[in-house]
Amino acid sequence: MALAHVLTWLEHSPLGVFTRSLGVWSYGVLNLVHILGITLLFGSILLLDVRLLGAWRQIPLAQISRPTTTMAQIGFVLALCSGIPMITVKSSDYIGNPFLLIKFPAIALALLNVWLVHRSPAWQAHRVRALMPAEQRRLAFGASLSLLFWLTAISAGRMIGYW
Ligand code: HEM
Repeated sequence: MALAHVLTWLEHSPLGVFTRSLGVWSYGVLNLVHILGITLLFGSILLLDVRLLGAWRQIPLAQISRPTTTMAQIGFVLALCSGIPMITVKSSDYIGNPFLLIKFPAIALALLNVWLVHRSPAWQAHRVRALMPAEQRRLAFGASLSLLFWLTAISAGRMIGYW
């Protein structure tokens, strides 16, 4: 199977060899960074999505969207930069793990949703004016999908180790 080949290749890649050479604490430290990244990512996304779903309407959306988007980007980069070396430590253990096949497509769908929301006219408009009800509904729909995809990614990520 193609994925099994990729996972075997990852384990023997220079990054895998290097990460294992860092010693017994390397996986634990990477996991810590991974969790910090995920909390930063999801904590920020949760605040923004709940606002898009209608909470705290007295706070202008642009005042929430700017800091939460920046923090979510930093969190994602931390999760990515720690997750990739983590997976190379013992990639072959993940062969046949179904949660891997849920987590990564969920992350891909979440990122696609971010891209679609950010290029929508409603998102572009929120920076310069108050939104019309139809625009608010469009962004609320994107926020619902966002919560669904990120929560799926987090749940599957947590379950990987228990397979
Ligand atoms: C995109 C690059 C990523 C890679 C390569 C990656 C890889 C990994 C690996 C190898 C593990 C350890 C699995 C195990 O227990 O054996 C893990 C754990 C986890 N990942 Fe990721 N991950 C990535 C991004 C993310 C993102 C964006 C999220 C959240 C949306 C996430 C959520 C989780 C969670 C919740 C855990 C369990 C942590 C724990 O409880 O120890 N990951 N990830």
